[in-house]
Amino acid sequence: MEAGVESGVPTSVETGYEQIVTRLIPGYASLARLGVALLAASPLASAHGASVLVAGCGSGAELLEARAQRPDWQLTALDPSAAMLDLARGRLAGQTGIDWQQASVESLEARARFDGALAVLVLQALPDDGRKLAFLTVLARSLRPGGQVVLVDLMQPERSPIQQQLLEASLGFQRASGLETAAAEDREAQRATAATSASRDALVAELTTGLHPIGLSRLTALVEAAGFGDPAPVYQALDVEGFLLQRRD
Ligand SMILES: C[S@@+](CC[C@H](N)C(=O)[O-])C[C@H]1O[C@@H](n2cnc3c(N)ncnc32)[C@H](O)[C@@H]1O
Repeated sequence: MEAGVESGVPTSVETGYEQIVTRLIPGYASLARLGVALLAASPLASAHGASVLVAGCGSGAELLEARAQRPDWQLTALDPSAAMLDLARGRLAGQTGIDWQQASVESLEARARFDGALAVLVLQALPDDGRKLAFLTVLARSLRPGGQVVLVDLMQPERSPIQQQLLEASLGFQRASGLETAAAEDREAQRATAATSASRDALVAELTTGLHPIGLSRLTALVEAAGFGDPAPVYQALDVEGFLLQRRD
């Protein structure tokens, strides 16, 4: 694929992770663009030179988009995974104004210094045993009062009569996107591409297993306890939903 370039930042070269996640989640390819546009229109992060946290930056989709839409933002790119941070760093090579931190959100200093944050597909990996609340509490405290977070996560539909249909549609979307075909092709060529095949399987497993989705009422209770107002819905694709959270004053 040819790289698109906006503001000197390549935006369309996909990592292996992105090739898989776009086949798993309808609309993923637009998520970073949507998230950044939402934050750029928020009361605090709309200011020139705003300070923005990309929590769980992964391979850098939101960072690339932030650089393209808002080159003036001071970015903090946070991820506990050295491998993911390396990927993101490589894609943003030469970009200034990014503070790279190999750390989890929970380890952030609770100092209200960010005007906004993005947390896309991060909270879903944490069990709801106090760890989701700890993540959200530190996130809220790291924002200035009135600061907003764009939170996108796999959700658990609540008593929904279409729950089974959502699940089947998810699998159908993945099949139609060629995820199974691609995995089968990898297995076919396993001897030659053992590393690619193994890493694809590991990525798919990481993105689909061991997740801890919660329902909207539980999310509302958690964000309220953490110091945010009610989650405002901004995105939904099957069981992946996005919300704007605003830190209470
Ligand atoms: C599914 S990826 C999403 C990456 C990126 N936000 C995206 O949408 O493409 C989740 C990322 O969150 C990171 N992560 C997991 N737990 C975290 C935590 N407690 N704090 C910050 N990042 C975390 C993982 O290392 C991984 O890179």
